[in-house]
Amino acid sequence: MVNEVKKPDAADALEILRADHRSVEKLFDAFRPAPDAAADARFALVKRACEQLTVHAMLEEELLYPAASEALPDATIKVDEALVEHYLVKSLIQRFVTLEPSHTGFDATFKVLSELVRHHVDEEEKTLFPALRKSSLDLAELGNRIAARKRQLEEKLDAAGVRSTGDRTFSLSHLDFPE
Ligand SMILES: [Fe+2]
Ligand SMILES: [Fe+2]
Repeated sequence: MVNEVKKPDAADALEILRADHRSVEKLFDAFRPAPDAAADARFALVKRACEQLTVHAMLEEELLYPAASEALPDATIKVDEALVEHYLVKSLIQRFVTLEPSHTGFDATFKVLSELVRHHVDEEEKTLFPALRKSSLDLAELGNRIAARKRQLEEKLDAAGVRSTGDRTFSLSHLDFPE
C-alpha cells in the first residue's frame, strides 16, 4: 500500500502527542518517593513532569480538542470529559507552586497526579486517537501546527529560565495557562 499523504520526515499530530505521553510516563516511572530519593532529585523530576504536562495540555486544548470536536460530531467521543480531566491535572500541578519536597503531601500529590494522567492518556489513546485516525481530519497539517506551537511554548519556558538553570520556583505562569 502506498501512503500518499504522510511526509517521511514529519510526525503527525497523534504521533507527537503520543510521544509526549511516553515521555511523561517515563518520568512517572522514574519517580522514587522519600526516603528513597533526595529532595532535590524529587523536586527536579516533579518540575520537569509538570512543565511537560503543562505544554502538552495547552497543545491539546488549543489545537487538538477543537479540531476533534469538529471532526467527530459523534457524542460517544467525550472531549468534554477530557477537558474536565485536564482541569483536575492542572489543579494538582498548581499545588506544586507552593509544595516543597519536605512537605507532607508532596509525594502523594505527585502519585495522584500520575494516576490521573495515566488514566487520561489511556482513554485518549484507546478512544479519541483511533477515532481521529479514521476521521477526515488532516493529521499532518495539524501536526505541523502542534509542532510549531510546542517549539514556541518550550522557548518561553527556556526564556523563563526554568529548564536550564535549575531554578527552584515553578514558572508555569509565564505560559499564560488558560483557565
Ligand atoms: Fe489530554
Ligand atoms: Fe494527551
